[in-house]
Amino acid sequence: STEKKVEELLSKMTLDEKIGQLNQYTSSWEMTGPVPEGKDQQDQLEMIKSGLVGSMLNVTGAEATRKAQTLAVENSRLGIPMIFGYDVVHGYKTMLPIPLAAASSWNPEVARQSCEVAAREAAASGIHWTFAPMIDIARDARWGRVMEGAGEDPYLGSIMAAAQVKGFQGDSLNSINTVAACAKHFAAYGFAEAGRDYNTVEITEHTLRNTVLPPFKAAVDAGVSTIMNSFNIIGGIPSTSNHHLLRDILKGEWQFDGFVISDWNSIGEIRNHGVASTKKEAAYLAINAGTDMDMEGDCYVFNLKQLVEEGKVSEATIDDAVRRVLKIKYELGLFDDPYKYCNEENEKVQLSQEHLDIARDLARKSVVLLKNNNQILPLQKDQQKIGVIGALANDKDSPLGSWRAQAVTGSAVSLLEGINNVVKNKGMVKYAQGPEFVTNTPKFTEELQFNESDLSGIKEAVKLAKKVDVVVMALGENCFQAGEGRSQTNIEIKGVQQQLFDAIYAVNKNIVVVLMNGRPVVLNNIAQQAQAIVETWHLGSEAGNAIADVLFGDYNPSGKLPVSFPRSVGQCPIYYNQFSTGRSANTDNNVFWSHYTDEAKTPLYPFGYGLSYTSFEYSNIELSSNELFSEGSIEVSATISNTGKFAGKETVQLYVQDLFGSIARPIKELKGFQQIELTPGESKKVTFKISKQDLTYYTAQGKWDVEPGDFKVWIGTNSQEGLEGNFTLN
Ligand code: IFM
Repeated sequence: STEKKVEELLSKMTLDEKIGQLNQYTSSWEMTGPVPEGKDQQDQLEMIKSGLVGSMLNVTGAEATRKAQTLAVENSRLGIPMIFGYDVVHGYKTMLPIPLAAASSWNPEVARQSCEVAAREAAASGIHWTFAPMIDIARDARWGRVMEGAGEDPYLGSIMAAAQVKGFQGDSLNSINTVAACAKHFAAYGFAEAGRDYNTVEITEHTLRNTVLPPFKAAVDAGVSTIMNSFNIIGGIPSTSNHHLLRDILKGEWQFDGFVISDWNSIGEIRNHGVASTKKEAAYLAINAGTDMDMEGDCYVFNLKQLVEEGKVSEATIDDAVRRVLKIKYELGLFDDPYKYCNEENEKVQLSQEHLDIARDLARKSVVLLKNNNQILPLQKDQQKIGVIGALANDKDSPLGSWRAQAVTGSAVSLLEGINNVVKNKGMVKYAQGPEFVTNTPKFTEELQFNESDLSGIKEAVKLAKKVDVVVMALGENCFQAGEGRSQTNIEIKGVQQQLFDAIYAVNKNIVVVLMNGRPVVLNNIAQQAQAIVETWHLGSEAGNAIADVLFGDYNPSGKLPVSFPRSVGQCPIYYNQFSTGRSANTDNNVFWSHYTDEAKTPLYPFGYGLSYTSFEYSNIELSSNELFSEGSIEVSATISNTGKFAGKETVQLYVQDLFGSIARPIKELKGFQQIELTPGESKKVTFKISKQDLTYYTAQGKWDVEPGDFKVWIGTNSQEGLEGNFTLN
């Protein structure tokens, strides 16, 4: 058995060799070339050869990984293979929709398939392990990493997390088509104060347990191989050295048997948090708290031996961490053949037509229709003169998204290309760029912003808009305006993009806005004035084709928002499953109730919101009983009818409210959803089952439990509209 093999190997290892397994480095030279003479490179080379590097990140390609692996396997005493990790988030070369977009499909199969394609392409390049999925709950659109997750809800987040783990890991890590997954960032990284990346997190145990941790529990239950720490502190304790998170919850309560990796130097950063004064102290705190592998921190490899000798870290603690790492290496099959993933032949799957077809299919399923006045959409091919406007519409790079692994720069199908691919009469489609993109911060060459002085571009676009029947205007963010380290205080469509919209609106009111963005954005007057708004996020390699499928009705949009869209940045953080306040409604007709005096408190578009070209009507909510006995279940159903002219897909959502609890309970919580397809005139009865298990939460008594009492239940098309029923839990 794997266990026996691990024990046998462990018994042969010296303390140094064991500690080496807990050390991960990024490569300090291009592995396919010669090793440079520099000291850093020579030192790293020697360490790899002596078995002091258990893992590397950012070594990619069959050739490079083989070369690196040879150094460890052929030179170190025990020949233990290294495990190669990489951020394969939404594709390796074929780019699939960013995870926030995949979550907008409300279809776990979209998330699973996306990760399956990513895994197959990455594994073909010698990658064993991806640092994904990112399953942080995110309620604050200012945070740039919203794009990487499944949004604001723990239920949807848990379903997507499990699907992603299944997609990456398949049925067996041993397959050359799968990679080990890493659920990150443990924990509450998305709760950074004011949406500023890496910032302090203050969170109660109840919110941690009820909101942040469920997707992690789901990932663990789905068999995720590894977990990554988050950079933040919680209640003053860095997650990386957080005994409660790692030993009590993850490895204790949940019995997680994979390994925990730090984030990039997050062990070293324990010093920056002011919780350790030296790397040695940081290593002492992190290993004892349960962080097994040190990413780029140089904390473990140079300090753990001394800490063991001083009796501050037990050899049993080291052994436990090493066992966990070796277990995954065995499961990957690396001890049978350390080079099994390094095969140039297999790299042919990358960017294959099969993968591009999947990318297109998943992309169109991820689009959310936010507005469609006067049924301006779908557009008619070859019948309408279309003015395509906006730099993002002709951008072949941005749709590839942030965290793009080995995507080929500029390889996406742009929106303009997508439209041109389906409109035969070329004279019917004209393009004007409007303001151009410029590189704003020379240090990060990819950091593109709109050229705020480019007003001539606006004039050109206005000229075009005057001549066409309908304007398709791409607005939003370049993909590198979202992502790690890209927090923003202003999430409006701002500057020249806003000016562009206003100038076009002055001459042509038939505007279809195609949003491309990595986070919810604030739309201001655009929300009222655009005739249609289509949320496309960053959809990957086939973005343009997928958007054209939707715009021309070859695919009827079916996505729903996995995040609330604020009306104003001042509403952030904003999320549907909030608590009641003591003063939620304006009952006394005075100012002393929970609201804003300058803006509505509701979101512009709520969680779960999304339209279709057809219309759906909900009727007849029925409960099999208004009493739920603790061992039984009840059924809640409603009839959904397609009352429009198109066949369409609807995501029917089930919400509950636990009216009274030992702690305050959210005003609504998603508890289920089902996707149904209906032809015009067709109706279907959709039934959900609710049992006690669905109603448990982390109570004031500090345990998962249900509390008897009254509940409301809704079946609806989004988190704000639904048919209501009620029941009592006995
Ligand atoms: O996996 C990432 C993490 O999400 C952020 N810091 C760097 C890691 C490795 O690239």
